[in-house]
Amino acid sequence: MQVVIEKLDHFGRGITYIDKKICFVKGALPGELVEIKIVKETKKYCEAVVYKLLDSSINREEVRCPFYDRCGGCCFSHLSFVEENKYKLEKVKEIMERFAGISRDKIEGISYTESEFYRNKITLHCKEGKIGYYKEGSKSIVPVNNCLLVDKRINDLVREIKQIDFKGKLEKIVIRVSNDSDKIMLKLVGNNINYHDLLCKCDVLVVNDCVMTRDDKIISTIGNRSYFLSIDSFFQVNKTLTEKLYDNVRDIVRKSSSKKVLDLYCGVGTIGLYVNDLVDEVIGIDSSFSNIRDAVRNKELNNTLNVTFMCEKVENVISNFCDDIDLVIVDPPRAGLDSATKQNICRIASQKIVYVSCDPVTLARDIKDLDAFYQVEGIRVFNMFPRTYHVECVVLLNKR
Ligand SMILES: C[S@@+](CC[C@H](N)C(=O)[O-])C[C@H]1O[C@@H](n2cnc3c(N)ncnc32)[C@H](O)[C@@H]1O
Repeated sequence: MQVVIEKLDHFGRGITYIDKKICFVKGALPGELVEIKIVKETKKYCEAVVYKLLDSSINREEVRCPFYDRCGGCCFSHLSFVEENKYKLEKVKEIMERFAGISRDKIEGISYTESEFYRNKITLHCKEGKIGYYKEGSKSIVPVNNCLLVDKRINDLVREIKQIDFKGKLEKIVIRVSNDSDKIMLKLVGNNINYHDLLCKCDVLVVNDCVMTRDDKIISTIGNRSYFLSIDSFFQVNKTLTEKLYDNVRDIVRKSSSKKVLDLYCGVGTIGLYVNDLVDEVIGIDSSFSNIRDAVRNKELNNTLNVTFMCEKVENVISNFCDDIDLVIVDPPRAGLDSATKQNICRIASQKIVYVSCDPVTLARDIKDLDAFYQVEGIRVFNMFPRTYHVECVVLLNKR
């Protein structure tokens, strides 16, 4: 069947209509004439793949990744990076307008850096001698030895790991590199793994939960701040764009003249420690023990006295804070904010909120829920995850 693709959906799939039923076509671009093969059909929609490209878009690019058609990691390797950025900006505008009633001119623009080799971390799965990513929508493994998204040092180590006979049962591999030095850390998960050949190939080696090297952490930098990182701690994966995102938050904090700041979902203390010199006091909260242990170390590493950290779930402790907070920074996981947290944020009634979000849909929901008390001043989009459909936003909300 031949169809013309009208636009892209929020997951980067082409959209067309067959007898008025919406059809999502993986790998097709707007304006393209394609012959498709339907792979799934329900009452409301169908899913298809491109069988033959009959008339291709001028925005189509040659795919450089040999695993692209099997691996579920990327969805935009066939689209020019310029168009990917335009698409992501438009996607945020559309979601904000549709789900939160935010006018499109509030979305200021999109920031981006490299489209390839930008990730400082990889997680690979291992099964039946194969090491790679999960195939999209399944647990079968696509062996990968050169992912175009990750730092080249990670790819080198993956290739070395693939030469080793681990003997026991290896289940998962996590590798993280420093943003600015040659330090590299590796975690192996499995049973009876023979890891000795890897001790000389990394600075930190963790096997299950045991640290096998003298060091248990590496240092990574963002701007002029340094951060200790353990293998299980959260750290933004984009090596270069994170600095621009944090600079954006720093700019907002500077202009706000805030004194007391809550940094909710603070990870290893990154944002709080990035802005602490502009304010009197920062309180960071995160539920992960590993994150908060690193955050406390990071406080010392950056010679900071005015930041404190709590290892708690935000929703369990936010009711303890009162109206002396000038600014609340939130950076929740994709699920966004829970209702108890939103209610308490409104009760605290800080002059401003900075919302850092990795999911525009839950962000729009939360903006709508906060609408009686807070209005959006501006939204900046950051292409933190090039070649995938994911996107990050920084939103400034002012108290009404
Ligand atoms: C997107 S990360 C943000 C980290 C940090 N702001 C940064 O820029 O590196 C979200 C963080 O929320 C934490 N988290 C998840 N659920 C939580 C909860 N209910 N309460 C507190 N922290 C939570 C995770 O441990 C993770 O560090």
